[in-house]
Amino acid sequence: MLDGCGRVVDYLRLSVTDLCNYRCQYCMPAQGVPKRAHREILSIEELFEIAQASVACGVKKIRLTGGEPLVRRGLLDLCRLLRAIPGLEELCLTTNGSLLPQLAAPLRRAGVDRLNISLDTLRPERFAAMTRLGQLSEVLQGVEAAEAAGFSRLKFDTVLIGGFNDDEIGDFLDLTRQHPWEIRFIELMPMGPCSAWEAHRFLPAQTILERFPHLQPLQPQGVARRFRLPGAQGTVGLISPVSREFCAGCRRIRVTADGRLKGCLHSAEELSLRNLHGQALEDAIRQGILQKPRHHHLSQRPSDTTRTMNEIGG
Ligand code: 5AD
Ligand code: SF4
Repeated sequence: MLDGCGRVVDYLRLSVTDLCNYRCQYCMPAQGVPKRAHREILSIEELFEIAQASVACGVKKIRLTGGEPLVRRGLLDLCRLLRAIPGLEELCLTTNGSLLPQLAAPLRRAGVDRLNISLDTLRPERFAAMTRLGQLSEVLQGVEAAEAAGFSRLKFDTVLIGGFNDDEIGDFLDLTRQHPWEIRFIELMPMGPCSAWEAHRFLPAQTILERFPHLQPLQPQGVARRFRLPGAQGTVGLISPVSREFCAGCRRIRVTADGRLKGCLHSAEELSLRNLHGQALEDAIRQGILQKPRHHHLSQRPSDTTRTMNEIGG
C-alpha cells in the first residue's frame, strides 16, 4: 500500500531477537544488553501473525533481522511458516554468518531465498577486536556453507569506518572479481554506542568512488547505488543513509523484537502491535504505514531513536 507521502511500502524488516553472539563496537555495549524476560519478545506465533497481516497490507518481501536472527529459537519453524504465506514473494535474512556452518542448509530447506552476511573486515585480528566475541574463520566457513547449501548471489554488508577498514576497500572489491557476490559498503550511522564517535570514523560512501574511479555504474537497486569493476563477476553497492538521503525511495517498515512497528529506523515514533490480532492487527499496520515519517534528520543530528541497532535490526 501507499504511505502518507505516496511511497509504495512493500518490504518488512522483522527483528526476531535483540540478542547477538557478537558485540560489534558500533552496535552493542561490551557487556551486551540485559536479557529481556521471555514474554517481552515476540513469540514465533506473534511473529507469524504480524508477517501475515503485513502481507495482507501489501508487503511482498520480508527480511528477518536481529540482533542475530540465527540465535533465535524456533527460527526454522518461523521460516517455514512465513514461506507458506500466499503473496509473499521473497524471504531474506541478514546474519553475521557465524552460525551458518550449522544452519545454512536447514535455512535453505526452510524456504529462505537470500542471505545478507555482515562482514566489516577481512583481517582476523581486526575482526576479533571489532566483534569482541567473534572469529573471522567462523564467518568464512559460514560463507562456504551458504554457497554449498545453494544460496547464490550472496550479499555482504560492510560498514565503512574511517581508520578501521577504509584501507581494506581494495581487498573487498577484489572479492567481486572471482565471486558473483555483491559487496555493499554502508555508511556508519550515528546511533547507539557510535553516536559519540569522532568525526573521522564517519566516511561518505563517495570516498570509495574517489579512490576507485574505474568502478563502472550499473542500474541502482533499492537504496543501493551499484557498480562493477571492469570484468568482475560480482558487483559493488554503495549505501549512503547519511550523506545521500534515500528516504524518498524508502519502501520499508520495521518491527522490533518487542513488537513495535517503526516507520523509520531513526524516528522515535513507534506503534505497539502487541496483543493485536486479525483485523485489529492489520489496521494497526496500515496506520503505521500511513504515519511513516517523510525522512530522517541524520544530516543535522544523531538518530532520534534511543534504541540500538540490535533491537531494530538495521
Ligand atoms: N551504522 C551502519 N550500519 C550498522 N549496522 C549496525 N549498526 C550500524 C550503524 N550504526 C549494520 C550491521 C549489519 C546490519 C544488521 O546493520 O553491521 O550489517
Ligand atoms: Fe551483532 Fe550485527 Fe550488532 Fe555485530 S552489528 S553486534 S553482529 S547485531
